[in-house]
Amino acid sequence: MSENKKLRMGVLGLGEGRSVISAVQQSSLWELGAVCDLNEQLCRERMAEFHLPDYLTDYEEMLRDESIDVIGIYTPDQLHARHIIMALEAGKHVVCTKPLMVDLTMARDLIRAQKESGRQVFIGQSSRYFEAAMHQRRDFEKGRHGELVTVETHYVSDSRWFLERAWSHREGFSWMYNFLIHAVDLALWYLPRVEEVYGVGVCSSNSASRGVMAPDALKFILKDQSGVCASINGNYAVPALSKPAEHFISCTLRGTSGASKAECPFDYYHHFSEPGIYNTTVHENYDERRPYYYRFEGDTHHAGEYQNYLEYFARCIQKGETPLPDLKEGIRTIAVMEAMNRCLSSGQVERVSDVLDAWGLKEDIEP
Ligand SMILES: NC(=O)c1ccc[n+]([C@@H]2O[C@H](COP(=O)([O-])OP(=O)(O)OC[C@H]3O[C@@H](n4cnc5c(N)ncnc54)[C@H](O)[C@@H]3O)[C@@H](O)[C@H]2O)c1
Repeated sequence: MSENKKLRMGVLGLGEGRSVISAVQQSSLWELGAVCDLNEQLCRERMAEFHLPDYLTDYEEMLRDESIDVIGIYTPDQLHARHIIMALEAGKHVVCTKPLMVDLTMARDLIRAQKESGRQVFIGQSSRYFEAAMHQRRDFEKGRHGELVTVETHYVSDSRWFLERAWSHREGFSWMYNFLIHAVDLALWYLPRVEEVYGVGVCSSNSASRGVMAPDALKFILKDQSGVCASINGNYAVPALSKPAEHFISCTLRGTSGASKAECPFDYYHHFSEPGIYNTTVHENYDERRPYYYRFEGDTHHAGEYQNYLEYFARCIQKGETPLPDLKEGIRTIAVMEAMNRCLSSGQVERVSDVLDAWGLKEDIEP
């Protein structure tokens, strides 16, 4: 595809899709093809907010528009797999928000649909695209940490407001797949070959009394094939501490020649040094980037993360490269989460390869 042609985006789901519209409008690599949501009132609000000429309420009508190259999927978690397959069958590339899906039931159908279409599926794991996380990743890729020894991630937020949503009460919703996945994805970004997992979860009375019985306090240890391990922590239905006591998402890397901590969105600490030198921790702060990341009222939408990942995705399509996380990496993440879920009931260490075997996915995901 020509490096100069803008990609045309069709946005499905205009809640979080609001950030996508903003990102597309501000990017030189994208243009808006259509927006679609079942909720007409929301469509009208987005039309007014972004000065759009029109909207659609029928996904299939958006898929029939041949001028659209890519579908951005921002519908409730339980619908993602079906919506991705529909887009692939219509010959579109796909960017889908997290989680790729809420179990592995449709994994093989997704793999088949992608093979048949020859199109790209990119998972919008937005936390990789906060300023602090991107700086940490660059240092990691330069090898500044030496050999990685441990990773610690957390995502903590008081998200009791989420229980107001109808789909948080539908089958398939869990705090783990919807929320903890940010912390799981950061850990797997550094340890892509996690094999053993162990953890515990607590369903607090704050969640249970509102009818959501999924554990909202979650702690896991993940170990990869070489023995390097990650710890993952999440709390979602109890009060959370605010900055500076606690940042909502963080990732700490400890290696043989350095340690670093990305406190998302805007604080990055690192210490790369020789033995015996302890007081050289550098603190970088990117608060000046706040207006780029947070474009709407409050801190609820992070449009800057979306613009970062959409521009990465566009460059991959232009160059004919596979954007990561792709479908295979996304499915492996869900398999790791299924192993984590199994621990919650078995109380035992669970293996990711057993999950992949059980679903007949091993050859596709780990050939
Ligand atoms: N940082 C992040 O990456 C991030 C943050 C928040 C939410 N999300 C994800 O984004 C997705 C949407 O979350 P949300 O908070 O916007 O939820 P939401 O409930 O506010 O929005 C979902 C929208 O999808 C629409 N919809 C449902 N089925 C449809 C269909 N068949 N056709 C057209 N529209 C349809 C609904 O009408 C609704 O407006 C979820 O999967 C969530 O996990 C990601």
